[in-house]
Amino acid sequence: MSAPLTLDGNMSRAKAQRALTEAFTKAGLDSAALDARVLTCAALGIDHAGLLRDPDLPLGEAASSLMAFAKRRLAREPVSRILGRREFFGETYAVGPAVLDPRPDTETLVEAILSALGGRANEALRLLDLGTGSGAILGALLRQFPRAIGFGVDLSPAACAIARQNLDALGLCGRAFILAGRWLAPISGRFDVIVSNPPYIEAEAVAGLDPEVRLYDPRLALDGGVDGLEAYRAIASAAASHLAPRGILAFELGADQAAAVDSILRSCGLEPIGRRRDLAGRERVILAGLEIQP
Ligand SMILES: C[S@@+](CC[C@H](N)C(=O)[O-])C[C@H]1O[C@@H](n2cnc3c(N)ncnc32)[C@H](O)[C@@H]1O
Repeated sequence: MSAPLTLDGNMSRAKAQRALTEAFTKAGLDSAALDARVLTCAALGIDHAGLLRDPDLPLGEAASSLMAFAKRRLAREPVSRILGRREFFGETYAVGPAVLDPRPDTETLVEAILSALGGRANEALRLLDLGTGSGAILGALLRQFPRAIGFGVDLSPAACAIARQNLDALGLCGRAFILAGRWLAPISGRFDVIVSNPPYIEAEAVAGLDPEVRLYDPRLALDGGVDGLEAYRAIASAAASHLAPRGILAFELGADQAAAVDSILRSCGLEPIGRRRDLAGRERVILAGLEIQP
């Protein structure tokens, strides 16, 4: 049996990083070396270049915060939650217990919308992000569409507070409006883009997710009901009466949900117009428009 992880202020930065990598590897963490480096840099308040430049400097006072970070990571808390922030589409978003940690895969959803509406980038578009969480999707879209205004809705008032904080920090508060409520209930009017990355995990499957997800993402952000499709049905059934002419509805999809969501859309007067795969080759996004234009 190996000795438990210990760090002290006299230990060099490089040695501490190695000790963390070893402890994380033994604990079965997939990205042990990367996590060790990122946490070491964060505890020291330096970037990767700084770590490479002065590997032999002692940890000093950073030893106790690095030890606290390491304990949290060994308890399977994701690095983004330990640091309280996550990069998404080139911007930094605060994350806390009330919001899903925005995933790189969700950038595919933003890219699909940009491709579909690229020719309209300078129009005064109206955007609606349902289940906005940290506000990452809405923030990314408002950055790309400089004349757009956007509304974000979330059932969790605590998530709404984080979304507002993030959009304010991006300088978007004059164009972004966050509302607490159930999907389209607090919304009136028509939108050029309705986007959602809804909860889509089958209720029974939540307990089998990786600890990083199961223990730290809010259940409200994960649980899509018995078949994982409840949110798609709820949103699609109300979306047609809120889409503008030429407007699009864009959904992120869970694994193997494309065909089922396609038929939900069709049953709600919406016409699927495209799908997009993520970098792993999985169908990740489905786009739809109005079957009959208003
Ligand atoms: C998968 S998370 C997506 C968060 C964020 N949009 C992202 O992509 O990182 C789903 C979000 O939907 C919210 N949500 C769940 N049920 C809802 C409902 N009935 N009405 C509005 N929002 C809901 C959750 O609180 C959560 O923030």
